[in-house]
Formats: sequence, structure tokens, C-alpha cells
Amino acid sequence: MDIPGPAPRADGGAGAVAAAGGLHTYQLRLHAEYGPVVRFQLPGAETAVSVADPVLLEATARVDKRPEPLFAFLAPLFETGNLQVMPADEHAPWRRLLLSVLAGRPSHERYFARFTELVTALADRWAGDAGDAGDAGRAGQTGHEPVELQKDLTELSLRMICEYALGGEVTDPGSVVAAFEDVLVEHLGQLYHAPLPGTQEERAERAEKALAYLRARVDRVVAAHRSGDRTDRSDLIGALVEAGERPARIRDTVMVTMLAAHHTTGVAVSWTLHLLGRHPEVAERIAGELDRVLGDRAAPEYGDLRRLTHLEMALKEAMRLYPPGPYGARETPEPLVLGDYEIPAGTTIFYPFWAVHMNPGHWPEPEKFMPERFTPQEVAKRPRLAYIPFGLGPRSCEGAGLAMVKAELILAVLLKRFRFRPAPGHEVTPVERFVLWAADDIRMIVSPRTQG
Ligand code: HEM
Repeated sequence: MDIPGPAPRADGGAGAVAAAGGLHTYQLRLHAEYGPVVRFQLPGAETAVSVADPVLLEATARVDKRPEPLFAFLAPLFETGNLQVMPADEHAPWRRLLLSVLAGRPSHERYFARFTELVTALADRWAGDAGDAGDAGRAGQTGHEPVELQKDLTELSLRMICEYALGGEVTDPGSVVAAFEDVLVEHLGQLYHAPLPGTQEERAERAEKALAYLRARVDRVVAAHRSGDRTDRSDLIGALVEAGERPARIRDTVMVTMLAAHHTTGVAVSWTLHLLGRHPEVAERIAGELDRVLGDRAAPEYGDLRRLTHLEMALKEAMRLYPPGPYGARETPEPLVLGDYEIPAGTTIFYPFWAVHMNPGHWPEPEKFMPERFTPQEVAKRPRLAYIPFGLGPRSCEGAGLAMVKAELILAVLLKRFRFRPAPGHEVTPVERFVLWAADDIRMIVSPRTQG
């Protein structure tokens, strides 16, 4: 059977996406009109097949290839090639190695105290407790000016992942963070035609210098490891050195980890706070849970996280409504049967994670924020792939476990201490970028919980 979909247009589909108000609304419309499997023109990839049904998605779950052209803009960041598009036989051992660190408890526990310090420093700044030295005299923001959650939380997340990826050995993380931002502005900014500072040449030169600086910093950490120590799998560079990876591949791994980790985790937390600000009854329930589990302590221990079930359900529901990475893609290496359709080899399969999460067949009243959808009983009623914020199959996110630890810790510290309310008159508009971003940030009024 032919796969249904709109008639091709000369502009490669860009006009239809724009007319629908963005790729997400376009996807929702396409699937409502044509069913769970739709052929459409994906700008940048010619024709793609989008699959929004979690049961049909199973048939694609072993595909181990991404379409290279969609990732070409990232190629300049890497020396040995972008790990996101490397061939399956090279990718599989690299993934195992990465998972052995990122998904393991030793690395989560090792960085937990440092992560707690970093989020506490941000909370202090918001509360105006930081004093003059740490904060260049910036006044506290609680109860007064709205806080720009997305900006502050992506910055925090980048700081955390930078320390994690470099093994906590960097004495001046600020300069590593700044260098990484220069690289991102150049390579991601171009993609979205965002207005950028300086001339093209100036920016390219700056990004080139920043990249060289980052690589040199990784080399220093690698050199320290060569003199031999850590084998406990709590440390990413240590594990890569131990496995005999070449330095260029280690540098690339650090880059891809930082790239994949920082915006995603930051926006996961800011969207959660956005939703909690609009659902004070859920925020109250979480605050009560935090009081019960933490008592007088301002921050959880690693072992407390599994007892914060309301907090975790709210985070999961927020990632359903606002998946930080809204789309994924694969390329079929051989023909694939998908329900009634045969998909030829070489087809781009498009994963509309966002539309999958809004599929009314599995999510009644899909636009409503209802964290109780994530009780174990409710989860058991749904197909496995109805909820896929971290993707699926052999190219799914290796950082999922670490991301949940980081996001839950940040939320626990912030919600124990503060109440979040929407800033009056501020409109929050999701836009699809490399991640699901709020166009004009998420501004909220942050006030201490104890003062009501
Ligand atoms: C809430 C936070 C995060 C979300 C929602 C998220 C989501 C995703 C998604 C949707 C993908 C693509 C999956 C697919 O195509 O099936 C991905 C890939 C990836 N993520 Fe994450 N991610 C998060 C945090 C992290 C963190 C903290 C790390 C590392 C420390 C990380 C490392 C990666 C890597 C390396 C890939 C590429 C996978 C591969 O090609 O093998 N992510 N992530």
C-alpha cells in the first residue's frame, strides 16, 4: 500500500510547516488527517515517513542508523566524526562504554555533592543570599523581578555537565563553559538564523579558538589519567582512557556529551517549573513530599531521590507535554514492514516524539498536565513506546539516567526552598530549536516558601 500524505510541493515542504505554525502543529495535523504513518516533505531531508503510533514504532526500534545530512551542521565540532551518526559497528562498543559510566550509580553518586553545591549557589543567588563577592553585587530576585528560568537553568546544567564530563578536574570551569558557549552560538545559531553578534569571520575565528581551547583542556585531563588511576567507572574520561580510546575520540566524546546534555536537562527543569507555576495544587503536593522526605535538610542525598515520587511524576509529565528533544530520525538500511506499509531501504524515518506523547489513543485529554498518569499502574496500561522523551532503540539517549538524577536534584532543591508563580503578562511560547525552547524565556516570580 502507498503511504498516505500531502502532495509534494516545490518548496520542499517548508511552506506547509510554516503555514501550520511549526513542525509540531504540522505533525499533529498530518497524523490527524492521514493516520499513524504519514509520508511528508521534511525540510532538509526531502521525503520522510513519520510514525506516531507506539505499537508501530516497535518495528523501527532496532534501526541503528541516523540520516547524516540532518546532522551535517555539527560535523565541524568533531575530529573523528560525530558519534551521533557513526556506523552501527563502531557505535555499539562506544555506546556500551558510555552507558557503563553515564548510566551507573558510581558516577551519579560521585558528582552528587558537587551538583548540589552548584544548584544551591543558584538558589542563593535568587534568594539574594550570595553576598557581594559571588554575584557582582546583583540584588536578590525573590519576590521582586521575574527570574529568567531557562537562561539560568541551562547555564546551571552546562556547568554541571562540564564538571561531570571533565572529571571535576577543571579549576576554572567558567572559562570552559564560556568557550563551549562560543562554539554553540556559532554552530547552532546559524542553524536558526538567529541574529548573532559580530561579523561571520569574527564569529568563525572565535568559535575556532574556543574549540581549540576546549580540546586542549580535555587533553590535559587525559594526560593526567595516563599517569594512571581511576578504574571505578565513575569517571567518563578515565573509562575512555582505560578502554584505550584515542585522544581525538575522547575529545569528541566530551564534546558530544556536553552538546547533548546541557540544553536538554536545563529546559526539562524550566518547563516543569512552568507547569507547576500554573498548577499550584501539584506544586503543594510536591512541597509536602519534600518536607516529609528531607525534613529540615535543604537538599536531598542521592538515596532520597527514589522516595520523591510526586516530584518524579511531575517531571515525567512535563517531559511528555514539552519533550526537551522533540524529534528523532533514523534511516532504514533495509526494507521495513510497518503495519500495512513496506518502507524501502534508504528512507528517512521521522520520530515525532511530541506528537507520540499527544496521541489521544494512549493519553486521554492529552493537553492536560496530570502527573498521576505516571503511577506504576497507569504506566503498565500503556504500550512501551507511548512515552519516549529519551528516544528509542540502539540510538536512544545514553544520558537518560544521569539526566533524571540531575533534574530531580535541581527540582528538589528549588521546590523545597521556593514557590514559583508565572510573571504577570509574560507569555511563554514554545519554539522548536535544537531543543524545545521558550521563545522569550520562561519568566517567573520566585518567592521563599516560608513567607507564604
Ligand atoms: C532531560 C534531559 C535529556 C533529554 C530529554 C534527552 C533526550 C535525548 C534524545 C531524544 C536523544 C535522541 C534519541 C533518539 O534518537 O532515539 C538523545 C540522544 C543523546 N543524548 Fe540525551 N537527553 C537528555 C540528557 C542527556 C544527558 C545528561 C546526556 C549525557 C550526559 C545525554 C547524552 C546523549 C547522547 C550522547 C545522545 C546521542 C545518542 C547516540 O547517538 O548514541 N543526554 N537524548
